[in-house]
Amino acid sequence: MKHLTFILTAAWAVTAAVGAPTLAGTEPPVVGANLVNEPYKQTAAEQEATFRILQAAGVHVIRAGIPGNDQGLAFAQGAYAHGIKIEWLLGVYPDPGTPWPRLPDAYKSKGLWRGWPLSTANADAFKANIGAQLAELESKGVVLAGFELGNEINWTGFNADFPLPAQGRVLNEKDLASDPEGRKIAQGYLRYLQTLAALKDIRDHSMLNRRTPIISGGLADLDDSGKWLRSVKADAVSVDATLHFLQANGLDQLVDGYGLHFYPLAISPGSAQGQAALRAHLELNGLTQCAPPGAAKGKPCWVTEWNFNGLKGLDACPIDDSSRIAMVGEMRSVLHDLADQNRLGGSLYYTWQGQIHAPKEDHDSAFLCGALTESGRLAVAPNIADLMAGNLISDTHSEAIKQRPCDIYAAGNTPCIAAHSTVRSLYAKYTGALYQVKRASDDAAQDIGLLSDGYANAATQDAFCTNTTCVVTRIYDQSTKHNDLSISSGGRYKGPGPNGSDLGAAADALPVTAGGHQVYGVSISPGMGYRNNRTSDVAVNGKPEGMYMISSGTHFNSGCCFDYGNAEVSGTDTGAAHMDAVNVTEDLSWADCRNEPGLGVQADLENGLFHWNQRSCNPASNVSGGHPFISAWLKNNGQTRFTLKWGNAQSGGLNTIYSGALPDGYVPMRQEGAIILGVGGDNSHASAGSFFEGVMTTGFPTDGADNAVQANIVAVGYGAPTGLAGTLMPGSEISLQATTACCIGDYVRNLNGAVVIAPITPSSAEQDKSDATWIVRRGLADNSCVSFESRNNPGDFLRQQNLALHMQPFDGTASNRADATFCPQAGKNQKGSSFHLVNDPTRYVRHYYGKVYVASDGDSTNPWSTPVHWSDDVSFIVGPPWSP
Ligand code: AHR
Repeated sequence: MKHLTFILTAAWAVTAAVGAPTLAGTEPPVVGANLVNEPYKQTAAEQEATFRILQAAGVHVIRAGIPGNDQGLAFAQGAYAHGIKIEWLLGVYPDPGTPWPRLPDAYKSKGLWRGWPLSTANADAFKANIGAQLAELESKGVVLAGFELGNEINWTGFNADFPLPAQGRVLNEKDLASDPEGRKIAQGYLRYLQTLAALKDIRDHSMLNRRTPIISGGLADLDDSGKWLRSVKADAVSVDATLHFLQANGLDQLVDGYGLHFYPLAISPGSAQGQAALRAHLELNGLTQCAPPGAAKGKPCWVTEWNFNGLKGLDACPIDDSSRIAMVGEMRSVLHDLADQNRLGGSLYYTWQGQIHAPKEDHDSAFLCGALTESGRLAVAPNIADLMAGNLISDTHSEAIKQRPCDIYAAGNTPCIAAHSTVRSLYAKYTGALYQVKRASDDAAQDIGLLSDGYANAATQDAFCTNTTCVVTRIYDQSTKHNDLSISSGGRYKGPGPNGSDLGAAADALPVTAGGHQVYGVSISPGMGYRNNRTSDVAVNGKPEGMYMISSGTHFNSGCCFDYGNAEVSGTDTGAAHMDAVNVTEDLSWADCRNEPGLGVQADLENGLFHWNQRSCNPASNVSGGHPFISAWLKNNGQTRFTLKWGNAQSGGLNTIYSGALPDGYVPMRQEGAIILGVGGDNSHASAGSFFEGVMTTGFPTDGADNAVQANIVAVGYGAPTGLAGTLMPGSEISLQATTACCIGDYVRNLNGAVVIAPITPSSAEQDKSDATWIVRRGLADNSCVSFESRNNPGDFLRQQNLALHMQPFDGTASNRADATFCPQAGKNQKGSSFHLVNDPTRYVRHYYGKVYVASDGDSTNPWSTPVHWSDDVSFIVGPPWSP
C-alpha cells in the first residue's frame, strides 16, 4: 500500500467505491495508468488535453471511477472516443440507511475508513445502480477494459469493518475463522462476494461488455515489519489470507483476475540487493497467487496500482528521475516474467497526473513538472515484452540510442543521401524535425520533432491540430543533403490540388505504434504525392544507389505508381532507365500479374515496373501474407545489375525477389536524381499506399548492411495501436450492425461502390466479410469525429453524395472531407451509436429498404427521412470486424 493515499479519497467519496478488473482469455496484458482526483470534473478542454497526452504516450487503458451522472458518462465517452478504455473502479453499495462511516476526529489525517463496511454490502442495490449505469455507458457505445470491484478492502483504509482504534495487527486465515475482529471482516468478505456475483450477472447480460474481465479489488500490500500499520493505528488482513478466504468461498468462479497493489520500498535502486528485496516484497503480497487463465486454482493478476515508497529526487522541478527509472525497470522486469508465464492480466501504474484538482503535485505521477517523465514513459509503455531485460531502459536518453539504418549504411561505406520518416530518426544522432504539418484553420505550419529516444513527438501534432485538420506538407531529409520532400507540384499529370499540384496526406490518418509510442505514418490516397526535383548528391547517369521503404502489405491498390526513389527532375516521362524507384503495387498491367494477384514489390525503372529483367510477372515479387508492415528494397549498380527484396517489417529477414542483370534497354541507367514518394516519375497519382520510413544511399549497399537494417526495423516493433478492434478509436477495424428489428443480422457493407445493409454471418464469403469491415479513421474534416475507410479498398471512404452513402476515394478536397466525416453519439434508440454528418447535426446515417443514406428525422424531403423506424434505423452497434 502507498503510505499516503489521500489523493484517491475524493474519487472514492463520490463513487463510494473502488474498482477492480481482469482478463478472461489469453490476450496480452493491458498496460496503463490510474487516473485519480476526479478527472471527470475537468473541463471538456482539460479532458481533451489529458486524453491526447495519454494517447501520445500510448496509454490505452486507464483505471478510474466513473460516477453515475452526466459528468461520468461524458468522461467515459470522451476517453473511449480517444481510444482509451476505462478499467472501471467500482464500489459496493450499502444496505439502505447505512450511514457513511464517519471517521473519528483523531484519525482524520490518517486516510482511514474511506470505504463502506463490507458487511453492509448490498448486492441488490449494487445491481440496480450499476446495471443502470452500465446500460447508460453501453448506450453511448462504451466498451470497458475491466470491472474492478473494491479497492484495498483488506485494511482499515478502505473497509470500515476494521475497528478503530486498531493496533497495527496483520490478521491471517485462522483469524478470519476464530478471532472476533477477523470474523467480522470475514462476514464482510462474504457480502463482498455476493456483490461480485451481482457484477458477474450484470456483465454476463450486458450488450457490449460480455467479454470485459472482472477483477477482484486491488489488495493493499503490507510491509513485513508492520511498522506502517502501527504508525497509522490501522489493521489489515494479509493478501494471501484474503485471497485464500475468498477462493474458498467461490472467488475463482466470479472473477477473471486478482487485483493487487504493489508499493515496494526503494532499497538501493538498480542493485541486485534492491531487486531481490523488490521480488520478495511482491511474493509476500500475492504474487504467488497469480496463475494462467484456466488454471485449476488462481487467476492472472492485475496489478492495478504500483509505485514505490521511499523514492527521492522527485520533490522539486526539474526532478532527478534516475532512482525511479531504475525501480521501474526492476518492476517491469518482474511484470515481464509474469506476462511471459501468462500470469499477468494488467499493469496500471499509479498514477498518471499530478495537479488535477489537487493542491499539490503528486510525486507518484508519471506526468510531473509539466511533462511525461522518462520513468513514467517506461512505466506505461504498452508493450511489456519490449521491456524485457531492461532493453528499453538503455534507450531512454538520446546519447544511448543505438544504431539506426543510416548509421549502418554509413558504416558499410554506402551512406544515406536521403532519409525520410514521420516515425523515427534514421540516424542515432539526428535531433532535428521529422516532418511538417499545416493546419486548415489558419494555414499555420508546425514542425514535428523527436522524443528523447528518437521517435516522433506525435503529441505536438495532436495539440497543434486540435479541432482542425492537418496535412503533411513536408518530410524532412535527415541526411546532411537536405533532400526534403514537399507536396508534389505536379508534372505530366496534374494533381487535384491548387495549380495542378498533388494533395498532402491527412496528418492523422495513419496512427500506428512504433518504439512503444503512438506515432503517425503517411497514408497516400490517389491524388496525393511528394517530390523533390532539385536534390543534392542523389545518383544520376548510371551511378550506383540503394533504397528501401517501410510500407503496408494491406493498404495498396493497382494504380500507378506507389514509388519511393529516384525519378525525373521534369516530372515527365523522359524514357527508359530515367527512373530507379522501389514500387509497392498490385501490378496488373505492367507485368500482368493477374495469375499472382495481390501486392508485389517491383523496380520502377520508367515505362515499366520490373520484377526481374523481363517484362513479365515474377511470382517471387508477390508479397504474400497480408502483413500490415512490409519493407521493400531496391539497389541498382547503374551499369549492369539490380536487386529487389522484401521483408515483413515486424519479424524475420529479407526475401530476395531478383538479383541479376538489368533489363534490355536499361543499360546503363540514366537516373536524373529527383526523389518521389507515392507517385510515378511523370506524376501519375492513381496509387494508394502507406509510408513510414525510407532511405536512399549512395553506392550499392552490401547484403549484410541490408540485413542489419531489416533487423533494426523489426526492433522498432511497428504495430497497430493496441486494443483497437471493435471500437471507434482511429485505426480500429469494425463492423456496423443494424439494430432495427427487421434487420439485426444485417451489417453496413460496400456493394460495388454502393453502401447497403445485408446479412453477414461467420460462414459468409470472405469477400462479403471484408466488404462489411471498416477501418475507423479520425474524421477527415474534424478529428473529434470519425471517417470510415474501406477494408477492401484502401483509400476509399464512406461518404454522402446527394444524401446517399457511397464508397469513394478520398480526394482531399474540403467537400469530400466533410461528406466523409461523421460524429458519433449514443444510439437514438439507446442501442449502439448514431452518426451525424459533421456539417449537419440533423442528418444521421440511416438504412432504408436496404440502402444507406443520411437522413433527418421526418423532414419528409426524401422517402428515407420518414419518421417511421427512424431512431432504430439510425442506430448501429459498433462491433468487431468481420475480416481481421
Ligand atoms: O514506369 C511506370 C510509370 O510509367 C512511371 O512511374 C511513370 O513515369 C510512367 O507513367
